[in-house]
Amino acid sequence: MSKEPLLHFNVLGDHRGQLIALEENKEIPFDFKRVFYIYGTQEGIPRGQHAHYETQQFLICIHGSCKVSLDDGKEKKTYVLDKPSIGLYQDKMIWGEMFDFSSDCTLMVLANMPYYEEDYIRDYTQFLKIVTND
Ligand code: TYD
Repeated sequence: MSKEPLLHFNVLGDHRGQLIALEENKEIPFDFKRVFYIYGTQEGIPRGQHAHYETQQFLICIHGSCKVSLDDGKEKKTYVLDKPSIGLYQDKMIWGEMFDFSSDCTLMVLANMPYYEEDYIRDYTQFLKIVTND
């Protein structure tokens, strides 16, 4: 992984509580076209397990916790998302897996593209072939 994908946001807190603001091309390193969130996950069942040809994503665990592994075909690193003040950038052509969700986890994902199934690479062997130019 070339650049550190884990980012810490500025927390705008006062006596009323905390607030985090995310703007495209500022805190989030792209224009976002889509937001989705994952919740009600089941113990022991991972999600993701795919890469994208073009879609970039930014993952923020806004409640609870989970782990995310990012794999560029050469190196795989696992990150813990356990507070709403951190976010993880998943670039295009990075294999991602989300797992170890707490039962109260809500994982929000911002993406730079609308949903296109054609943009998914769901087969790890195919992903490795593409990233290693095999
Ligand atoms: P999937 O990408 O398999 O979820 P995850 O990566 O979390 O394991 O998506 C599950 C279903 O939801 C699948 O039928 C595609 C659909 N979907 C959309 O319609 N729009 C979206 O933005 C996303 C992420 C998924």
